[in-house]
Amino acid sequence: MVIGVPSEIKNNENRVAVTPAGVKELCKHGHDVYIQHDAGFDSGFLDDEYIFAGGQILSSIEEIYAIAEMIVKVKEPIELEYKLIKEDQLLFTYFHFASYRPLTEAMLETKAICLAYETVEKADRSLPLLIPMSEVAGRMAVQEGAKYLEKPMLGRGILLGGVPGVNPAKVLVLGGGIVGTQSAKMAAGLGADVTIIDVSLPRLRYLSDIMPANVSTLMSNEYNIRELIPHQDLIIGAVLIPGAKAPHLITKDMLKEMKPGTVLVDVAVDQGGCIETCKPTTHEDPIYIIDEVIHYCVANMPGAVPYTSTVALTNATLPYALQLASKGWQKACKENEELKLGLNIVKGEIVYEAVGSAFDLPISDVDKFL
Ligand SMILES: NC(=O)c1ccc[n+]([C@@H]2O[C@H](COP(=O)([O-])OP(=O)(O)OC[C@H]3O[C@@H](n4cnc5c(N)ncnc54)[C@H](O)[C@@H]3O)[C@@H](O)[C@H]2O)c1
Repeated sequence: MVIGVPSEIKNNENRVAVTPAGVKELCKHGHDVYIQHDAGFDSGFLDDEYIFAGGQILSSIEEIYAIAEMIVKVKEPIELEYKLIKEDQLLFTYFHFASYRPLTEAMLETKAICLAYETVEKADRSLPLLIPMSEVAGRMAVQEGAKYLEKPMLGRGILLGGVPGVNPAKVLVLGGGIVGTQSAKMAAGLGADVTIIDVSLPRLRYLSDIMPANVSTLMSNEYNIRELIPHQDLIIGAVLIPGAKAPHLITKDMLKEMKPGTVLVDVAVDQGGCIETCKPTTHEDPIYIIDEVIHYCVANMPGAVPYTSTVALTNATLPYALQLASKGWQKACKENEELKLGLNIVKGEIVYEAVGSAFDLPISDVDKFL
């Protein structure tokens, strides 16, 4: 199959959809891979590395879209790209259709096949192409939290791990899923005194079994949260209720109970945030302060570490991209239910229920295309 990897042109997106290692695998299986000039540059991959791996470089995005049967990307196409997409072309990328109607309408019009990373789903209902980014954000939350706890960054001036003779910082993690587990692990590794709260008792049991001794688990409820917050230095929001807005576990009135210079990192900001006073920020201007409490609410945290994020994402996407390229999308989706669930739009028809219901548009049976 002819595969095209365009440069990401969405503002501040530094990732690339295929690494040189991925190009080598795809070429080994007989595919032709075309990469746009400098597509990997911001993630630390040079054109020469792609060429060495067997890929070919094209200078413009127009050439990439014109030649490719399958486009592998990171972010959803933006308006500039809509007109470049061809009928029957396979697009394998993050789309998040339900949050943006104009994109949905534009993709319906192209009559392309849109297979969305975010809805590829395993039998246990986990989302294998979202997990790597949660892992990155979870680990990064502690790094950012530690940074903003420093006095010159306006924080409390406390070192997460303390030193001999001085208490470590207290870290509260709201939600013990992928983000929360990674945050707790990192904070514990630095020596902090960590508490994870969750509403799932089985999850708390599991975390209690695997976490080191400086991590405690606690049931998530308002009473426990109110008891904890006056003593915390860093609070990380990592709650998710699938398909719903995150609940506000920290309300505005609670800020007054916190120590001045406490840092809040709300990773769940992309689902509305689990801290009432959270509003999305950017890497250019990541924090703001309310009631002497620092809020870090960057909606695309992995964007700041494009090398790690690119490699983590492509580790997860490559096996699926290989199946799509080697079998063609129809056979690959017929044989692999995980991939089939990734189909959102096929040849001008919506085939994923949540996308149709988001905009009250008709939904077709995906099987009629397979
Ligand atoms: N800002 C970013 O750059 C970024 C990057 C990746 C993920 N995220 C977001 O981070 C959030 C967490 O993602 P995840 O992959 O860890 O999800 P997850 O489903 O693995 O974990 C969510 C956890 O929240 C728990 N939970 C639900 N209600 C709760 C409550 N009331 N109190 C305490 N815990 C509760 C669940 O039991 C679950 O363990 C999501 O909103 C995700 O979109 C943001």
